[in-house]
Amino acid sequence: MSKPVLEVLNGRAVNTPPVWMMRQAGRYLPEYQAVRTRAGSFLDLCFNPELAAEVTLQPIRRFGLDAAILFSDILVIPHALGQTVTFSAGEGPLLTPLADRAAIEGLRGTVDDAVLAPVYETIRRVKTELPPAVTFLGFCGAPWTVATYMIAGRGTASQAPARLFAYREPDAFAALIDILVENSITYLARQIEAGVDAVQLFDTWAGVLPPEEFARWCVEPTRRIVEGVRARHPGARIIGFPRGAGTQLAGFIDAVAVDAVSVDWSTDRAFVRQAIQPRVAVQGNLDPLALLAGGAALDRSVAAILRDFGGGRFIFNLGHGILPETPIAHVERMLARVRGG
Ligand code: CP3
Repeated sequence: MSKPVLEVLNGRAVNTPPVWMMRQAGRYLPEYQAVRTRAGSFLDLCFNPELAAEVTLQPIRRFGLDAAILFSDILVIPHALGQTVTFSAGEGPLLTPLADRAAIEGLRGTVDDAVLAPVYETIRRVKTELPPAVTFLGFCGAPWTVATYMIAGRGTASQAPARLFAYREPDAFAALIDILVENSITYLARQIEAGVDAVQLFDTWAGVLPPEEFARWCVEPTRRIVEGVRARHPGARIIGFPRGAGTQLAGFIDAVAVDAVSVDWSTDRAFVRQAIQPRVAVQGNLDPLALLAGGAALDRSVAAILRDFGGGRFIFNLGHGILPETPIAHVERMLARVRGG
């Protein structure tokens, strides 16, 4: 049986676009909240194969989405490199900030395999239960975005700490990026070996970088990861998500051999349709707030996206993760519209 998301990644346009949602396994689902409460900490949930597999499958069972995304987090890599990572309710991730070159040199050069082993076990478990038409996606954070959390120790509005660090100590910052590139290649290759059909690279904070820094810290490391993964798995299917890249998406796909780009809601759709979609598949780009609002605003937004992207290689998705307050009925309405209801 064919998998529509994989078909699009393989370069074919599909009549009714396949659909999934970034952060689809999460707090807007009561069944997720129930497992989350049982699991202990958020990282305990990420590293519990039975429960992580369960929450990976929940949105597939409820909505019949066309892709499942591994339940984990981009910050498991810093954790496996020896940095202290915790998630506190309401505050998001907290890490011990990397203050200087010495702190970067104090990290492990390679991840602790024992820490990540449960993630591969989660993949093997999900694989046995996933309906055959559902594409299974693995992921990791792109080095720039992961580094922003490692340097600042938390999420910040415009990633000033990491930008400043990269200006002041470019060599030390490059050493950190190198560690992340090498370990991300191995991590994604192992996810593929464990059974995912494709992988997505989340570069959530790419859009805060000026053009030269975008080239150096977003494009180049991502290019190296794609090349490294393909050296081990030549047919690997890879989705890039340099959020906020805007017209720099063109330069991104010139350099990085991704099969698709995920585009955020602020990106001009005419530009993407003309300059990007003829070259790679496009994924996106519903504003998560339009989904939260529902009603006519949601219907209009879905219709405009289908009109602009529906004629080519396209995977319907949000422009960023679904918000925890989103009513389930709005997700159902969005799916009905995308699927022609
Ligand atoms: O998409 C999925 O359903 C799969 C799982 C997934 C999570 N995080 C689970 C999660 C994925 C793909 C991610 C990616 C991720 N994690 C990114 C890149 C994409 C993005 O949304 O920008 C980033 C920057 C992170 C780091 C992170 N993890 C932050 C900033 C936070 C706190 C903010 C928030 O949304 O809560 C997390 C926590 C997190 N990761 C939760 C989930 C379901 C919520 C925590 C909880 O349930 O207690």
